[in-house]
Amino acid sequence: MAGSCNNVGPVARMRPCVARHLTERKDTMDILAAAKQRYTAKAYDPTRKVPEETMRQIYDLMRNSPSSVNSQPWHFIVASTPEAKARMAKGTPAAFAYNEPKVLNASHVVLFCARVDADAAHLDKLLAQEQADGRFRDDAAKAGQAKGRLGYVNLHRYTQKDLPQWLEKQVYIALGTAMLGASALGVDTTPMEGIDTRALDAEFDLHAQGLSSLVMLSFGYRAGDDFNAALPKSRLKEEQVFTFL
Ligand SMILES: Cc1cc2nc3c(=O)[nH]c(=O)nc-3n(C[C@H](O)[C@H](O)[C@H](O)COP(=O)(O)O)c2cc1C
Repeated sequence: MAGSCNNVGPVARMRPCVARHLTERKDTMDILAAAKQRYTAKAYDPTRKVPEETMRQIYDLMRNSPSSVNSQPWHFIVASTPEAKARMAKGTPAAFAYNEPKVLNASHVVLFCARVDADAAHLDKLLAQEQADGRFRDDAAKAGQAKGRLGYVNLHRYTQKDLPQWLEKQVYIALGTAMLGASALGVDTTPMEGIDTRALDAEFDLHAQGLSSLVMLSFGYRAGDDFNAALPKSRLKEEQVFTFL
């Protein structure tokens, strides 16, 4: 397979393969260009669909996002049919109606959900997956990982008392990854916190699954008359947001 890598081990892995992969793919976009061309689409062309193959790459990016202690406290609900998008639009009533067309006219809409707890069942699932993926040399390594992860969970549960918020932060990493990745793949996006999370929790019966809805992300191709596409990007200057020591 073109671009496949066979090197293994923590030191040898990845870098050479990534570099080779990038040079092999002539259409690979510079990551900074992807960040700069990304903007929040305010209107979509309802006739255009993002190919499933492209969406699958974006889903893979999301699933491969990093999270503290590999907690992966996310669940992604995907809508692409008119019926499914109508269900998503139950999250854009009244005060959030300005977001409704960005849901209904988009090609795909993903609801990012967060686990409200890192309970024993979830922690066991993570550990079992890590074992299946070959992360543990021996039982001691496995026990060490379980103990270390539980230590962080308990720090946030009992000491900092911010466990749900800490879990939500991890989900936002996947949101950022998805937006940048989509831009690199030529897909426009709209992140939306302007949603009725209570309505969406009920629509998808999220509480029964230990989940709550957090933020929505639409994918598609901008409409020709999207006013936001023509506006320049605005960001604080480097010296305002960086301190170089
Ligand atoms: C977490 C998050 C939530 C947002 N919620 C909304 C929203 O509900 N509706 C909307 O039109 N834009 C929303 N935005 C878009 C922001 O207003 C936009 O990212 C910001 O103004 C910077 O512009 P740019 O994305 O075009 O670079 C959201 C952005 C983020 C990151």
